[in-house]
Amino acid sequence: MRLNALASKRETLRQALLDCRQKTLTLVSDITPQELCQQSHPDFSPIGWHLGHIAFTEGLWILEHCAGIQPPSPISRQFWAADGLPKTQRQALPPFPLLQDYLDTIRQSVLTYLETAPLEQQERLWWWLLQHESQHNETIAIVLAMLRWGKHPQKPKTIAKTSGTFSPTLITIPSGEFPMGRDDLLAQDNERPPHWVYLPTYQIDSHPVTCQQYRQFMAAGGYHEQKYWSEVGWQWLQQNPITQPYYWREGADWDYHPVCGVSWYEAEAYARFVGKRLPSEAEWEKAATWHPTQSHPTPYPWGTDSPHPQRCNFDTHLGDTTPVYAYPDGRSPLGCWDMLGNVWEWTDSWFAGYPGFEFYPYRGYSEVYFDQQHRVMRGGSWITRPWGLRSSFRNWYHPWVRQMFVGFRCAVSSFD
Ligand code: AVJ
Ligand code: FE
Repeated sequence: MRLNALASKRETLRQALLDCRQKTLTLVSDITPQELCQQSHPDFSPIGWHLGHIAFTEGLWILEHCAGIQPPSPISRQFWAADGLPKTQRQALPPFPLLQDYLDTIRQSVLTYLETAPLEQQERLWWWLLQHESQHNETIAIVLAMLRWGKHPQKPKTIAKTSGTFSPTLITIPSGEFPMGRDDLLAQDNERPPHWVYLPTYQIDSHPVTCQQYRQFMAAGGYHEQKYWSEVGWQWLQQNPITQPYYWREGADWDYHPVCGVSWYEAEAYARFVGKRLPSEAEWEKAATWHPTQSHPTPYPWGTDSPHPQRCNFDTHLGDTTPVYAYPDGRSPLGCWDMLGNVWEWTDSWFAGYPGFEFYPYRGYSEVYFDQQHRVMRGGSWITRPWGLRSSFRNWYHPWVRQMFVGFRCAVSSFD
């Protein structure tokens, strides 16, 4: 019995690793040598580096730390370390076939080791590794989008159904405690430990802010009127004189798609324009999962079923954003739409450890970003792999970065 359970854990992990790798390789299947090595933005490493770093990380944690094997690398292993070179010095990359070979060689040893690995002590590490590759998958997709943006004509994808109608409202979330965070084997260090959080009554947008809504901000001179911007945000705008979101597309076809590709400062300015504010991440998470009889965390707004294309837009099933009212089956208990998938959502919160935080597997994974310089994004995007898509998952970026598939929804404090 015990043996069978272990064997099935091994098989589940093996299958997930293969699935994830398949997705990584599909993403880069038609990449050019130029796209592989190009620095598209100072905050993002070249795609080829991400590929090597995926292999390196797997070799470091599974082969070196667990199996005690010295993993091979086509070039200096230090080159692939997250805390090695600055992001702008990662362009001297081996050609694609060598990178593929690196990924493959490490993976072969890792799968062999998995057959006998003492999973009782290691399961969390294996799930962490899978989520690590998933996240680099999303970063690769962002870099590709930057490199290719505007090069091809775009039409909204016809989606299976938009049976819902779009009637955006404010949802009132009653005061009280809710269980925040998560503690199972897939939970990242920054989601732990789960803890109860009291919030006073507040209201939150039923849907992410749409392109149509955001266009009103642009039309009202949103990018030119200082009164909508915080001091830091305005300074940033003066140094980066932009007039629209990074992934902006004009035209009625996109009206009900979420605005995508905004910095935290732009989100903050829009919120001020409509007389609202950004939600804290606790407010976001409570709106995503809480219901009146809830006593423990629920992984998804719709309950406990694994993510499915019927519930939300994720895992590149569709290849683009979708209208924010497209997924009635994904609504949260109190009626918030589109909390998972489609676009990440900025929150008002600095990234910080929960009370009792302990790093895993290394300090640099989350803890070095608890620096009052990174804002939390929640909810996942149309790219996010299933292993990183859940209501408690926390992502973080500098507030000035806007190349992610990120939008936002607003909130309002309630004074009753
Ligand atoms: C959470 C997306 C900001 O890409 O730097 C990858 C995730 N951590 N490898 C990043 C991560 C270690 C991280 N982000
Ligand atoms: Fe990494």
